[in-house]
Amino acid sequence: MVSAEAGIDRVLWTEAEVAARVGDVAAELEADLRALPEPAVVVGVATGAFLFLADLVRRVDAPLAVDFVRVESYGQGTESSGKPRITADLKVDVAGKHVVVVEDIVDTGNTLSCLIAHLEKKGASSISVCTFLDKPARRKVNVQLVGDGKFYSGFECPDCFVVGYGLDYAELYRNLPYVGVLKPEMYTKDSGN
Ligand code: PRP
Ligand code: MN
Ligand code: MG
Repeated sequence: MVSAEAGIDRVLWTEAEVAARVGDVAAELEADLRALPEPAVVVGVATGAFLFLADLVRRVDAPLAVDFVRVESYGQGTESSGKPRITADLKVDVAGKHVVVVEDIVDTGNTLSCLIAHLEKKGASSISVCTFLDKPARRKVNVQLVGDGKFYSGFECPDCFVVGYGLDYAELYRNLPYVGVLKPEMYTKDSGN
């Protein structure tokens, strides 16, 4: 088999650039979480957020809990179904807690809207969002934060299909330590994300 890198057309952010930016976002988050009266709950959205979450929280020196939910909307393709499903729920009770949702990318905003409504129903007192990539060009639903929640973002992403650092195409490429654009011949439906 060939390397994962063989499917990559060009690199958008190198491993070093990713690490530097994650450090900046972590510093911002650390200052805010230290100001809270009690530990926050950091909720990673599996699968995409796993690398960003791991790199982020180890750089945040503040008391916090880590949990995961699984929300899926893209399946095997490049087009959002528009109907995300929560296929694995939290272990930690978030009632009355400050929640920070960690995502790899906010694209249409459907996944986050669904998840924020879900966390609000569970009684989270505030909900922030910390996303590695933000792709505002594709937004269909505005991300409504809750309470004193803030929006943290690593990079603004151009409107092309990106993979690596957690982001997949048909479950592959997540393990790349950088973010790249997939070669068009690697996928069949040329419809963005
Ligand atoms: C991707 C990505 C975000 C979401 C963003 O998840 O990881 O969670 O889509 O898209 P949206 O803003 O248009 O909703 P995906 O459904 O591909 O699952 P995965 O994390 O397991 O790859
Ligand atoms: Mn995801
Ligand atoms: Mg995906």
